[in-house]
Amino acid sequence: MKLYNSLLEGNKEWVKKRLQQDPEFFDKLSRGQSPQFLWIGCSDSRVPANEITNTQPGDIFVHRNIANMVVHSDMNLLSVLDYAVNILKVKHVIVCGHYGCGGVKAAMQNEQYGLVDNWLRFIKDVYRTHSDELNSIKDEEKRFDRFVELNVIEQVLDLTKTTIIQNAWQERNEPKVHGWVYSLKTGLIKDLGVSFDSSAKLEPIFRVENKYVPVTPVEAEEV
Ligand code: CO
Repeated sequence: MKLYNSLLEGNKEWVKKRLQQDPEFFDKLSRGQSPQFLWIGCSDSRVPANEITNTQPGDIFVHRNIANMVVHSDMNLLSVLDYAVNILKVKHVIVCGHYGCGGVKAAMQNEQYGLVDNWLRFIKDVYRTHSDELNSIKDEEKRFDRFVELNVIEQVLDLTKTTIIQNAWQERNEPKVHGWVYSLKTGLIKDLGVSFDSSAKLEPIFRVENKYVPVTPVEAEEV
């Protein structure tokens, strides 16, 4: 129980420190949030969004899953994305992967880990898409690093394929989407330079036009 209680003790310490810095800290935050960023990151315990960007509670809306995936049928991801883009109206969506990602590593291999293997399948598709480049990298560590980067790039592209992002671009030219990779070894973030806004040239097959508007149901007596 000592380990467990250490979290609750830690919380009290944190509240004390916060109130010393700003007595109104919690009053202000409790009034609402208006974050400018949505973070899509890995569940890895070593990559906490606020801490590594030196930001505060209220600054970043966060979604995390194994290997920072944007899976277009994932209701959790889609709900977070829709809320962040259409209600909070964030200005930037950032997919942040990290070198040394266990999910990406597992996807490079053939070992079974259980249920998660089904999630890793999406990452294997990224490998297949880039297999020429990845197979040409003989050094396994370098191939792993590049796979992490390519996985982030593909997730950024997957964001641009969603109706949520494309409709937002048509309506207000925002948000911008970006791809980053965090280094566990240095603590530094690398911007992969794959930022897209409404001027993005999407592959034709993924473009959506004319926002879907549900038709008004016909009144019963008119039928
Ligand atoms: Co990871």
